[in-house]
Amino acid sequence: MPEIDRTILEAFLVAGDTPVSGDKIARELGLSRVSVWGRLERLRREGFVFEASTRVGYRMTRVPERLHAALVAARVRLLSGRELPLLGLEAVDSTNSEAERQLAAGREPPFGVLAAVQTAGRGRLGRVWHSKDNGNLYLSLAFRPLLAPERMQMFTLVMGVRLGHFLAERFGLKMQVKWPNDLLCDGRKLAGILTEARIDADHVRDLVFGIGINLNAREKDFPPELRATAGSLALAVGKPLDPHRTAAEIIAHLLASYEKFVAEGKGADFAELWTRYDFLCGKKVTVSMLGKELAGTVAGLDESGALLLRDSKGNTHALNAGEVTLKKK
Ligand code: BTN
Repeated sequence: MPEIDRTILEAFLVAGDTPVSGDKIARELGLSRVSVWGRLERLRREGFVFEASTRVGYRMTRVPERLHAALVAARVRLLSGRELPLLGLEAVDSTNSEAERQLAAGREPPFGVLAAVQTAGRGRLGRVWHSKDNGNLYLSLAFRPLLAPERMQMFTLVMGVRLGHFLAERFGLKMQVKWPNDLLCDGRKLAGILTEARIDADHVRDLVFGIGINLNAREKDFPPELRATAGSLALAVGKPLDPHRTAAEIIAHLLASYEKFVAEGKGADFAELWTRYDFLCGKKVTVSMLGKELAGTVAGLDESGALLLRDSKGNTHALNAGEVTLKKK
């Protein structure tokens, strides 16, 4: 019962250095002291250290190095008041696939899936998302927006630019967003987004927002072919980050951005944010889509979020999808 673990861990986080009494937790959760003790024992086996301090109670003096879903969920609730059920897995093929399986099995969204390793992490356009156990975040959030499909058109773009803005402000980084869904810092890719949806009749029924964020990876953690282009938050900030705190801040921000999107769509500030973080505007690129290539200069986005590309004849093309490669100078 991860919700109980979350509530117990929340009590320790709130208490900080003050001892927490097992009796109090038991009373608040309506559990027996023995079952709270049993839970603490299980959490200990998962890497937590609870030190008995006098007869008053326990202090949480260590947390696992690897992301622990209940601890992330506890931090999300403390930060944002939101209760997000979060499934934590050691290894899974893909957190997006697991979220889809959970939805198909009847689990009610919203919920999240976190994994330490993905054995078949998926990127856009059928690519593989490198997902080793290297301190990075592999996360899927499942939602049921029940909005018309056309209202979701700009969802990934909006979520990406809002997250980029959050990371820029929170860590003082020079973030950029590469259309449609890459987050870059100093030209290196920090994160990628893969949104998958199931549409029923006229509504987007199930929406899985998958995001891979390089959190604490060091350069040697990336495969050689990615070392020149991939970065991580820790490398950008110059020190390792507390994975639980950082993941919780990111998740709380994504949940707020999702709610804002459902209520307001792209939002009145989208155009300004996109202009501020747009990596491609004015750059000469080649866009490949469905086996075809188009070269030109990027001229921003249209109202629907399509990329505007001006070719050498001065014609402007609006592209809804594709892989953008910068032209070598
Ligand atoms: C891309 O840049 O091509 C998108 C990468 C998306 C990767 C994330 S990791 C969590 C989730 N599960 C997956 O299999 N993919 C997404």
